[in-house]
Amino acid sequence: MTPEALTCYIYIGKWLAVFRCQLLQITTACCINSGGLEYNAAQIYKVLRERNFIMEYQTDYDFLVEQLKAVTESETDTIANLSNASAVLQMNLDDINWVGFYLVRKEQLVLGPFQGRPACVRIDFGKGVCGTAAATGVTQLVPNVHEFPGHIACDGASNSEIVVPMFHEGKLTAVLDIDSPVFHRFTEIDRVGLERCAAVVSASCCWQPVL
Ligand code: SME
Repeated sequence: MTPEALTCYIYIGKWLAVFRCQLLQITTACCINSGGLEYNAAQIYKVLRERNFIMEYQTDYDFLVEQLKAVTESETDTIANLSNASAVLQMNLDDINWVGFYLVRKEQLVLGPFQGRPACVRIDFGKGVCGTAAATGVTQLVPNVHEFPGHIACDGASNSEIVVPMFHEGKLTAVLDIDSPVFHRFTEIDRVGLERCAAVVSASCCWQPVL
C-alpha cells in the first residue's frame, strides 16, 4: 500500500478522533506493516501533516496567557507561581504527558514544579533538550525526540518536546519543558505562544534563591 493509499484509508475510516487515539498508542518501536512496507509512527505523522490530514492544535494562547496572569499576579514566590503555572498549562494543552520547569542552579538545571511522572533531577547545561535550551538561550522545538542527539528520556511515552528558556533582567533563570506522546505535536504557533506564557510567568516571580 502506498503512503497515499494509507492516508486515504485512514481518512475514510472516520479520521481525526479514531486516528489520534491510534497514533497515541503507536510507539516508534511498533511499526505498521502494510503490503511489505513499513511505516513507523513518525513517518506516518510526517506524511499526514504534509498533506493537511492532521489539523493543528487550536490552543488559545491569549486565554492561556490571561489565565497564567490571573494565577500569578498577586504572588511573587517562585515555587508557588511555577506550581500554579504548570497546573494551568497542563489543563490547557492537549496531548501532553509532562509539563514543568527546571531552575538554574550554578551551571546546572534542577527540577522544579511540574505535572507528570517523576523526572530526572539535574541536567547539565548543554545536555539533552533542556540543557541545550539553557546553553543557547534559544527555544528548542523537537518534532521527534528520538532523533535529538543526547535527548534525556524521563518518560518513555514522550515523542516530541518543546523547551523554552526563561529570563529575568537578561539572565537565564529557568526553562519551561513540555513533552508529548504525539510526534510533531508543537509548531511555530506553540513556540510563539509558549514564549509569551514563559515571559508572563517569569515576570511574576521574585527569582530569589530558594532556601
Ligand atoms: N527530555 C528532557 C529531560 C527532561 S524530561 O523530558 C522531563 C531533555 O532531554 O532535556
